[in-house]
Amino acid sequence: MPSNLGFVPTMGALHPGHVSLIKKSKEMCVNTCVSIFVNPLQFSENEDFDTYPCTLKGDIKILEQQKVDVLFLPTADEIYKNTSSFSIRENFLSTVLEGSSRPLFFPGVMTVVIKLLNIISPSHTFFGKKDFQQMLLIEKMISDFNLPVDLVRCETLRNEQGLAYSSRNQYLSKKGCINASNVFKTLRLSLSKKVDEESLKSEIKNLPGITLDYLAFVDKKTLRPITKNHSSFLVCVAFYVEGVRLIDNIEAN
Ligand code: PAF
Repeated sequence: MPSNLGFVPTMGALHPGHVSLIKKSKEMCVNTCVSIFVNPLQFSENEDFDTYPCTLKGDIKILEQQKVDVLFLPTADEIYKNTSSFSIRENFLSTVLEGSSRPLFFPGVMTVVIKLLNIISPSHTFFGKKDFQQMLLIEKMISDFNLPVDLVRCETLRNEQGLAYSSRNQYLSKKGCINASNVFKTLRLSLSKKVDEESLKSEIKNLPGITLDYLAFVDKKTLRPITKNHSSFLVCVAFYVEGVRLIDNIEAN
């Protein structure tokens, strides 16, 4: 493998957000590898592993159009058959936000990502800010375990209405997409008016078709609640629309 290899791990159902990560990799690296693997370890029993969107034919077309050099498409057996007694657990960043709502999620993500990084041996790997907590955790894992790879943070890509691209958007009706996009619009508008956390929560709860899971103003490095005089922080939100759970965030400066 060449020493300058960019790696974009995905679970497939590729969308413009993934394409933007691939484009960044192609810009920075000589070769680009994309993996498609719906990782069973990061789903709880009540989640959508069995119905997770699978659009392999279309995904391959996108990868060909983007001139991706390698597609890594392993089976669950190939990834996990020798490793049933280890998993990676993190004890600080992973215990809040998504970690409190989905306890199996981050151990599952970190276990598969460390395996994928070891198998592919890339020089760079590309993660989106849409999944900010995941990106931060992988960055920390790379640093804590001295993994020889640089993580490149990539901006969140949104559709014209402001909805962040996500494979789970495929579950939504047109109306659901519009309702979901109102969450980000509300975050952006409220922050420009310096609305406080409790008022913003109420505004989101009052949006049509939206059920709020959590909303939190947190420090960008620790993901802990901010103190009053923080000028730069992250607003993280998780919500349900048409029974689909989505997450998003916005940086406040
Ligand atoms: O963000 C994702 O699609 C997944 O969590 C990842 C990083 C590919 C690990 O399965």
